[in-house]
Amino acid sequence: MLDLGAILQDVAALPADRPMGMPGAFYTSSDQFSWEKKTVLQHGWHCLGRQDEVPEAGDFFTVQLLDEPLIVVRGDDGVIRVLANVCRHRGMPLAEGAGNTKRFTCAYHAWMYGRDGALLRAARMENQGFDAANCRLHSYKTQIWKGFIYCCLDADAVPFSDASAALDALLDPYETETFRLVHVAQEIWHTNWKCLVENFMEGYHLSVVHPHTLHGYTPTGLAKKSASGPGFTSYLANYPDGITPRGSGAKGLSAQERQRSTLFARFPTQVASQAASLLVSLSIFPITAETIDVKWTMSVYGDDLDADTIAERIALWEEVNAEDRQKLERMQRALRSQHAQSGPLAGDDYEGTIRDFQLWLAEQDRIFRS
Ligand code: FES
Ligand SMILES: [Fe+2]
Repeated sequence: MLDLGAILQDVAALPADRPMGMPGAFYTSSDQFSWEKKTVLQHGWHCLGRQDEVPEAGDFFTVQLLDEPLIVVRGDDGVIRVLANVCRHRGMPLAEGAGNTKRFTCAYHAWMYGRDGALLRAARMENQGFDAANCRLHSYKTQIWKGFIYCCLDADAVPFSDASAALDALLDPYETETFRLVHVAQEIWHTNWKCLVENFMEGYHLSVVHPHTLHGYTPTGLAKKSASGPGFTSYLANYPDGITPRGSGAKGLSAQERQRSTLFARFPTQVASQAASLLVSLSIFPITAETIDVKWTMSVYGDDLDADTIAERIALWEEVNAEDRQKLERMQRALRSQHAQSGPLAGDDYEGTIRDFQLWLAEQDRIFRS
C-alpha cells in the first residue's frame, strides 16, 4: 500500500520548477478519504451557499456536509444559523429541500422547534428528566464572507481565516457581497472532491475541454497565476482583446479587472469564478472517495444583465459544468489503475494553483499528524 501521507510531503517538498501531481490512489482510496474526513474536511470551513438564498425570516435550505445533515435558516432576528437537521428526540431529520417555515415540526412524534433551534413543544412528555431547554438543535459555527455562508463542523475550529487579506484585495473591487442570486442547482458527480478543486482551478484544460463554451472568452494561453495565501489560491482567466464583457460591474473596477474572470478556491471545498457582472460558485460536498454532491450558484451584479442574457449564461455554465463532469468521471475510473502514478505538472500560470492546493493539504496533513 502506498503511504499517501509520505508521498504528499515528498511532492510538496519538490522544487517549484519541477512540480508533480499526486498518484491516482490519492483520489480513489477510501482510507485516504476517511482520513481527510476526520481532518481537513471535518475541521475546515465550507461554503454552503449564498446569503440571499434565505432573504426572509424563516427561509431555509438543507444540505448534507460529510455525515452531518444541516438546516441553513434565517431567524426572526435576521441572523443566518446553521442547525443540525437531527431531531433531539430520536434523530429524525426535521426538514428537507428548501422553503419557508415558522417552525420545524418533526415528522415522527411532532416535536416542534423554532427558527433558532429552540425546542418549543414536545407533546405528552412525562419523563421527569426531560427539560426542553436541554433539547435545542445544535447550532454550528458560521461565518458570512462576501455574501457566502460558511460553516465549520468542529466546535473548536480555527477561526474563519481572515488571514486571506490578499484574497479580499483581489475581490473587493468586484463588490462580491452585493451580487444577486439568479440560479441554484445541485447534482451528484462521480469524482473525488480534490479532482474538482484542481480541475476548476487550473487554466490548462480550458481550450481543450471547453472549445466551444469557454475558449473564445478565456483561452488557456491567457491564463495567469494570481495571488495565493493561507487557505486559498487564484488565477486570472483573461479575455482576448476585442472581447466585450457583458455588463461593466462595479464602478471601481479597472479596465483589466473587467477583461477577465478571477478564479479562486477557498480550501477545502469552494471554487468560484468572479467576473465583472457574473459570479459562479461551486460548493463541493464530498460523499465518498469517488462521489461528490456539487451545488452551484450563479449571481449577477445589479441590473447589469437582462433576463435573456442571464438565461443564456445559466445555459452556458450548465454546459461548461457538464463538460468538466464528463472528463472528471472518465478520469476517476482510470485513476484506480496501478499506472496512475505521479505525473509532471505544467507551469505556474497553468497548474500552479494545483501546487498551492498540494502545499496547503501537505501543511494541514502535517498539523493533523503531529
Ligand atoms: S424523532 Fe423527532 S419527535 Fe420523535
Ligand atoms: Fe473546466
